[in-house]
Amino acid sequence: MNLETVVILAAGEGTRMKSATPKVLHSISGRTLVGHVLHAVSGLSAKQVRVVVGAGREKVEAHIAEIAPHAVTVFQEKRGGTGHATQLALVGLKPTGTILILAGDTPLLTSTSLTHLLEHHHAGGFTASVMTALHPDPTGYGRIIRADDDSLARIVEERDADESEKEIIEVNSGVYAFDAAKLAGAIGKLKTENSQGELYLTDVIEILRNEGGTIAPVLIDDFFEILGVNDRVQLAESAALLRDRINEDLMREGVTIVDPLSTWVDSTAKIERDVILMPGTAITGTTTVASGAVVGPRSTLHNCTVGESARVLESHCTEAIIGASVNVGPFTFLRAGTKLLTGSKAGAFVEMKNATLGEGSKVPHLSYVGDAVIGEGSNIGAATIFVNYDGVEKHYTVVGDHVRIGSDSMLVAPVTIGDGAYTAAGSVITEDVPPGAIGVGRAKQRNVIGWVLRKRPGTKSAEAASRHSSDEQKG
Ligand code: UD1
Ligand code: CA
Repeated sequence: MNLETVVILAAGEGTRMKSATPKVLHSISGRTLVGHVLHAVSGLSAKQVRVVVGAGREKVEAHIAEIAPHAVTVFQEKRGGTGHATQLALVGLKPTGTILILAGDTPLLTSTSLTHLLEHHHAGGFTASVMTALHPDPTGYGRIIRADDDSLARIVEERDADESEKEIIEVNSGVYAFDAAKLAGAIGKLKTENSQGELYLTDVIEILRNEGGTIAPVLIDDFFEILGVNDRVQLAESAALLRDRINEDLMREGVTIVDPLSTWVDSTAKIERDVILMPGTAITGTTTVASGAVVGPRSTLHNCTVGESARVLESHCTEAIIGASVNVGPFTFLRAGTKLLTGSKAGAFVEMKNATLGEGSKVPHLSYVGDAVIGEGSNIGAATIFVNYDGVEKHYTVVGDHVRIGSDSMLVAPVTIGDGAYTAAGSVITEDVPPGAIGVGRAKQRNVIGWVLRKRPGTKSAEAASRHSSDEQKG
């Protein structure tokens, strides 16, 4: 298939978004709007991709350089219409082969439909092919005016349409395949005689037809695909449609999604079969979830790796590696650099960052573990804090294998707890504990006998205490 060039028109201001962010940089399902379009065209093996940028130029260019470094950007300084944007895109372009033109604000387009358009275009040897769809509410779209032989006569914009033309529900998707040489010949002939005083790319259809060109409308089944995003309502609608599409694909591939409406999986995430996603769960970015894992309810995994048969319950995890058969949650916060090795556990109200928890080791309750390596088979008692920050710098803690950290220990970094060592509950550990030793870092307990009767006479405590013999009171 001789697809020479793809042009993506993305210079519009997106005024209706009412945003400091350029429209095409708004994200749904883990990709920006223009990112979805670039992704859809990436499989078409075009020789070159040009993106026309304008509003928010620097931000859009930087984003495109990051996600599609092969694409070339063309700058449209002032909005002159889709025809004007196309004129700029064609400057310096060899007019050969096929050119595909589409907008940067249609995130639901699939490469399947684009391929279908191109195949149809090439098979029929058409001058131009226009992707169209039947839209139940065509308001705002250009309408497809067909000739008697069903070929495409022209496209009329909503603002320029008369009442009977507005009744037409076949709409222009804004996706076109052109014979590049014919397009190059016609694009200079556009005029601004329309309600917006702009050069409309859509007018090139009538020009080509009048010059004897053949124009094919290519009707696709699903009008969802061509939905454009012009405001935040449409942004949310497109996001929901994409969510449904992704969830349906996953379910057909063997993933259980208990409540598809409240489960949001980015198109960039990967989930293996026999994973169970519970309600209220978001799997975003480059997260991968291996077979047999159960995630949720109400959990977020961003750029995480989840191993086979792991369990993540009511938790928020970013850039964490959660190994096979690991237990996380409920109410656990795993931050960047957390590594939970096979069979380990980060339990309720535990926060971790930049820390490795060895095989089978457990941090079951109410702890902070930062900047640490913990060996295998160790247990970190409830409410232990890895004191990693001295107010200026972060320091490291090393905990060996089969260690028992007593509840409410403070491990003041830098510090090392040797293999098989213990710390006494409530200890503030500021010095290394050698292998096999117990570190006790707390004051010895003393009881002040009779204190309550002397200092709190007449209280319920004193009354309770007075039920005991004076011998007991003396200890
Ligand atoms: C356009 C089509 C309409 C079609 C609809 C499909 C025209 C005249 N109309 O209308 O027939 O049904 O798309 O969604 O083409 N852009 C530029 N530079 C400009 C103007 C626009 O780059 O000077 C870009 C925009 O950023 C956008 C795309 O072109 O990505 C389409 O522009 P937009 O203003 O959204 O056109 P519509 O009114 O939606
Ligand atoms: Ca649009």
